[in-house]
Amino acid sequence: MKTASELDVAGQRVLVRSDLNVPLEDGRVTDDGRIRASLPLLQELLARGARVVVVAHLGRPKGAVDPAYSLAPVAARLQELLGQPVRAAQDVVGESAQEMVGALADGQLGLLENVRFEPGETSKDDGERGAFADELAGLADLYIDDAFGAVHRKHASVYDVAQRLPHASGPLVAAEVEVLKRLTENPARPYAVVLGGSKVSDKLKVIEALLPKVDTLLVGGGMCFTFLAAQGHDVGSSLLEADQLDTCRAFLTTGKVVLPVDVIAAAAFSADADHDVVPAEAIPADRMGLDIGPQSVKVFSEALQGARTVFWNGPMGVFEMAPYAEGTRGVAETIASLPDALTVVGGGDSAAAVRALGIDEGRFTHISTGGGASLENLEGKALPGLTVLET
Ligand code: 3PG
Repeated sequence: MKTASELDVAGQRVLVRSDLNVPLEDGRVTDDGRIRASLPLLQELLARGARVVVVAHLGRPKGAVDPAYSLAPVAARLQELLGQPVRAAQDVVGESAQEMVGALADGQLGLLENVRFEPGETSKDDGERGAFADELAGLADLYIDDAFGAVHRKHASVYDVAQRLPHASGPLVAAEVEVLKRLTENPARPYAVVLGGSKVSDKLKVIEALLPKVDTLLVGGGMCFTFLAAQGHDVGSSLLEADQLDTCRAFLTTGKVVLPVDVIAAAAFSADADHDVVPAEAIPADRMGLDIGPQSVKVFSEALQGARTVFWNGPMGVFEMAPYAEGTRGVAETIASLPDALTVVGGGDSAAAVRALGIDEGRFTHISTGGGASLENLEGKALPGLTVLET
């Protein structure tokens, strides 16, 4: 894989695929982690005199223009962080984009509108995707992919455009690939994985792939209730995937799965609802588990002591609501405090939780910018955005 530093970018129009898929509220970016992570490459290219054209997606607008998914708020935040003007195009490859790119001088940067406003971006039809990739490639001389969070998508701006322009990987993609290699090729032992998040079904493949390789798998979050039910416990009105009970039973036979021993059980899915700590094997019928309990944090912490490699993906509870944030905080603190361990936070919600809970990101070896991408990599799948960069 060629790196960005090997390309001669001065005076060239460089199309950079960044992952700027950040949460928004009332038109403002609420977690700018991914924008900040994208800065080093952009700053480097600007300093080297490139004309930088950033292409990115926001949400899943399904191939049609939807103002709720405009990248305008992201352009505003990017401009603040870069400390120099960001020209925001009103479309992706239309008149506005072409004008914007044409007006860029060396050392200037512009951002195209949400690439998923174009049906060709995510099309399953190679011809339709290719036709759109032709238009996108027409805006630039070189292509650099720094959007690790999107490398598992066979989309025009991730895959097809790289076939049409001289290309390289950005530093973010290169760093992520390096860390994932350390997790998959001969990880230092003991190797512990902590999984949370709501659905077992979303993580089935990764659990299957990881169980033979890890020493311990700690399960919290909404998905732990299907495991608890698989052990024959009542889980009240907690999240339950009845069709995954047999699969969870099979996972439990490995003897590597550690489950919560207590949970915070609430009367409703609300921060104001009545809630108590209850044993994990006896959740009252009218209560739902919304976080792992304090005893579970202790059990998980003990299980993690001595670990040399830790991968964590998915919050332990509904951390966005204060009464259900302590499980995630406790586990995050434990992982952050492990001496001599490679600690990797697997992106998405867990990375957002680290920032929202005010835990210093520097206490982890690596916080991935891609949740889905890192999970698919750990599953052993070939990621289209990476394989195309190797050609
Ligand atoms: C993410 O948020 O994981 C990446 O930006 C990819 O987004 P997607 O799941 O909508 O493709």
